[in-house]
Amino acid sequence: MSHPVERPRRLRNSPALRNLVREVDLHPDNLILPLFVTWGRDRKEPIASMPGVFRHSVDRLPDILSESWEAGIRSLLLFGIPERKDDNGSEALNPDGPVPQAIGAIRERFPGFVIMTDVCIDEYTTHGHCGLVSGDRIENDPTLDILAGMALLHAQAGAHVVAPSDMMDGRVGAIRRRLDENALTDTLILSYAVKYASALYGPFRDAMMSGPQFGDRCSYQMDFRGRREALREARLDMEEGADMLMVKPAIAYLDIISQVSEISDLPVAAYQVSGEYSMIMAAGANGWIDTDRVMIETLTAIRRAGAQMILTYFAIRAARLLRS
Ligand code: PBG
Repeated sequence: MSHPVERPRRLRNSPALRNLVREVDLHPDNLILPLFVTWGRDRKEPIASMPGVFRHSVDRLPDILSESWEAGIRSLLLFGIPERKDDNGSEALNPDGPVPQAIGAIRERFPGFVIMTDVCIDEYTTHGHCGLVSGDRIENDPTLDILAGMALLHAQAGAHVVAPSDMMDGRVGAIRRRLDENALTDTLILSYAVKYASALYGPFRDAMMSGPQFGDRCSYQMDFRGRREALREARLDMEEGADMLMVKPAIAYLDIISQVSEISDLPVAAYQVSGEYSMIMAAGANGWIDTDRVMIETLTAIRRAGAQMILTYFAIRAARLLRS
């Protein structure tokens, strides 16, 4: 009888051996929890398409902040839902808006968190686009000024990291200049460098009431048939002064995460977006998959592809499971 020369199975013979030789780890330190902060008071509103996720008013944030902290989550990404929308997204520059207020409240009560903010006007505009609109065009350069102003407002309120998600050309450079001119040289920029036009953002748009009212986002977000374009977007944002790069969505874009992490010496983040979360939750609720196991498997796969950090609505659930 002939024997195989190589037996990879030998290394899988016990849990201790498998743990010994594992190549990738997932830790709560790597997870970032996105939070939807709404205007108003005493509001905690469930989001139908994202079971377990809520919109919180600033006064209702402390519960989820304590839960996050106790689970070992140390980083948050804030999205704002303003009371009023208009064509120019002017509420994005309101210092009393939900995001600046939340930053203040978090810094006061939970000073250990790394606070990141989403910088984009789609939640603040009546048309729901990420840039200023003229006719049926999304205007690039006029949008840069409001994005830089929004980033400055968040940084002045105490955000540690600003994260532009709009995909306008040149916004990382415009934001870096505005921050530096205002002596905010320590504020980091996490650029949504590689953001595809994805149907997986559907539940998020329900959550934020931010879907485009006409057309789609294909003239600024990337076509999912592209690969080298991702490397170009990543390179440009590095040149413009980004401190960290993000790829989004995650699970259908592991090849892109892998390539961006190879060409860049910056930390890479990946966003496991709303649709990814909702698909796993829905299949789990039907008993078709084991939610916890698929959660850990997908998050670990995103790490294996090369992401240091993962933005995920599972952050608290995953961190609790990892600690237990
Ligand atoms: C835009 C923004 C979106 C998401 C994050 N930032 C929506 C979009 O581009 O349409 C999606 C996040 C998710 O789906 O979880 N401000």
